[in-house]
Amino acid sequence: MIPDNLLHQTKNLIAHQLGWEFGHTRAKDFERGLCSMAHDLGIKETPESLTNWLQTIQWTNHELDILTKYLTVGETYFFREKAQLDLFKNRIIPELIAERAGKEQTLRIWSAGCCSGEEPYTLAILLKEIVPDLHRWQIMILGTDINKSFLEKAKKGIYSAWSFRETSSAVQHKYFKKVGNHWEIIQEIKEMVTFSPLNLAENTYPSQSGNTNNIDVLFCRNVLMYFTAGQIKTVSNRFYHSLNQRGWLIPSAVEVNDDNFSDFASVNHDACTVYRNIPKRARRVSESINEPAIRQKSVDPNPPKPKALVSSSLLPITATRKHQKPETVTLPSPKTAFELFSEGQYNLCIEMCLTIMETGSGNADILSLIVKSLANLGKLSEARRWGEKLFAANGVDATHYHLIATILIEMNELILAEDTLKRALYLNPHHILSQFLMGTVAMRLDKQQTGKKHFKNVLELLSPFQESDIVPEADGLTAGRLREMVSAK
Ligand SMILES: C[S@@+](CC[C@H](N)C(=O)[O-])C[C@H]1O[C@@H](n2cnc3c(N)ncnc32)[C@H](O)[C@@H]1O
Repeated sequence: MIPDNLLHQTKNLIAHQLGWEFGHTRAKDFERGLCSMAHDLGIKETPESLTNWLQTIQWTNHELDILTKYLTVGETYFFREKAQLDLFKNRIIPELIAERAGKEQTLRIWSAGCCSGEEPYTLAILLKEIVPDLHRWQIMILGTDINKSFLEKAKKGIYSAWSFRETSSAVQHKYFKKVGNHWEIIQEIKEMVTFSPLNLAENTYPSQSGNTNNIDVLFCRNVLMYFTAGQIKTVSNRFYHSLNQRGWLIPSAVEVNDDNFSDFASVNHDACTVYRNIPKRARRVSESINEPAIRQKSVDPNPPKPKALVSSSLLPITATRKHQKPETVTLPSPKTAFELFSEGQYNLCIEMCLTIMETGSGNADILSLIVKSLANLGKLSEARRWGEKLFAANGVDATHYHLIATILIEMNELILAEDTLKRALYLNPHHILSQFLMGTVAMRLDKQQTGKKHFKNVLELLSPFQESDIVPEADGLTAGRLREMVSAK
């Protein structure tokens, strides 16, 4: 019905905006999705009007949302792919608990493409089952998806029997209560998971405000199999930076492909292969990547300092050879601390910043990089201590207070975070991210009215922004997405 060239053009555009590949096998699905969308919008389903419509359509978030409704695959269930969940339960979590017990007791888990919530709730149930003193840990389980109606269902937490096809009856009865023909997840588990809209094809993660940074375990299963090869690579690279050093990426068994996840080390464990963010240098000294947890610990997570890198950024480079005139040697230009940070090389970034501080040429920007790098490495107490130096260097910038507030929230110091955000908003009431965070903190402190007031402020401050405009200092987050995040609250 739709001319081939126009269909092709639209497919390319959708691949860019949403990541999806529609090869031969899914070509008909794609056309059907477009026709259903046209129907929704009151467009006549004749070849002429469809062509005319596709030639003029502006693909804003609104249109993409409608298309998403028809073209996302919502197949999921609790306790899907047992081998990977066993790895999570028997190795990954025990290893993290052993490393962090008595120190920073945090665990950050992200289910990307979580659909109607079965996957992140499964992870919450597993944590509840295996961590005896769970209440002493700061647990963050984030579920994100592009399809908002799936997220609505996830937040309600009510499921039909079909979602339990791999769940034992004991677990079903322990963590769900019967509501008519359906089953509702118990409040305790529901409260462990937060849901948020996120399009994996957009450059909005890792992000502190979206809680997609400093992740320990990232499940993204049965999502990338629908993406183009180029988009898989891009998403894989963003995931790499979202994860902590030594963090885990878990695709579904059918998505395992070392070329797609070439930034990562692959780890085989019993019946499954997953990926791990292990720096390349540390990987070389380790021959035990494919071996049990205890051997993994010998991998040095902090490779030796790259002295040349640090000094070359500060000094002009001249090398003298014997019996020759001094000559200027051109070396590859050194990376700045900011570049190292944006590449996710947080340890190197900190080293470079410390050297800069020692030379006396540091400033609040450098201190802020140290704080952010420490936070992204999960060293929250240290990050907070450096925050004091940051305030001493520049105590009148709202962004610094916002930064420290995000760290306090991760540490579950909500009252202090609220206080810190008050200062941010005193200094700059137009600081959108501080208004948003204040809304979130107020809600968590059960101050519903205050929370609503701040979310209203966010929407007002966003009113001059177009959907696709980037919100200042928000790691690429668009105004459209932030509006959605507010309305999802
Ligand atoms: C088949 S479900 C997988 C659910 C779950 N991860 C599992 O394995 O059971 C695929 C999910 O990916 C989501 N998805 C598709 N494209 C996406 C994108 N660009 N960004 C975020 N989520 C996306 C869909 O909405 C759908 O909920």
